[in-house]
Amino acid sequence: MTDFTTVSGVDQLHVSTHPLVREKVTRLRDETTPPKIFRELIAEIATLLLYEATADLPTDEREIRTPLAPYTGARLKDKVGLIPVLRAGIGMVEAALELMPEAQVWHIGLFRDERTLRPISYYNKLPSSATVQVCLVLDPMLATGGSATETVDILKKWGAKRIKYVGIIAAPEGVRALSSAHPDVPIHVAALDERLNEKGYIVPGLGDAGDRQFGTG
Ligand code: PRP
Ligand code: URA
Repeated sequence: MTDFTTVSGVDQLHVSTHPLVREKVTRLRDETTPPKIFRELIAEIATLLLYEATADLPTDEREIRTPLAPYTGARLKDKVGLIPVLRAGIGMVEAALELMPEAQVWHIGLFRDERTLRPISYYNKLPSSATVQVCLVLDPMLATGGSATETVDILKKWGAKRIKYVGIIAAPEGVRALSSAHPDVPIHVAALDERLNEKGYIVPGLGDAGDRQFGTG
């Protein structure tokens, strides 16, 4: 099958072309992959994507001493917030915390109404004003884009200034919806698929990311 990497008119989309990512996404899609391996793959792919998605985070100087000499190195300048979208985004959090142990984690609970495909919000405990400078939205699937757009709406109302979306598989429909609502939000994914089916599932996709992680399908 052809690997797509662009959606016309959208320049903030970053689709990883790394061979490790492509190999892991192939195993993730495989219907015979059991939940334990599926969860491990979600975490491994998240690590690789976050490495790419955080490449432009600003740094400050940090003075330390090595055993041999003083050294001026770097530390992250901004406070980072990880925003996993329940449920499926949970699988990406530990990987992100391994890379950024100081990050704050703010969960957002949304599910799609099966009939309208619109996101329904059921969990949000954000404090009254933003406590981080950079938000990384973590959710494996960008299908219609409704959930991602709603999450970014919530974060902007909270006062977040810099937001990035990190997902695993996107449909062109979702990329167009998120980028037209929020053209300032970069979209980092491991794969861009062909289309949505009539039930709003990504094709070829991987099925339901929440069910496959948690064995509830
Ligand atoms: C999935 C996925 C996204 C959403 C994407 O969650 O994790 O949040 O669908 O679809 P959209 O782009 O059309 O909004 P789901 O609603 O299935 O909830 P779950 O993670 O609790 O299973
Ligand atoms: N949510 C999923 O988990 N999978 C899809 O294909 C679409 C939405």
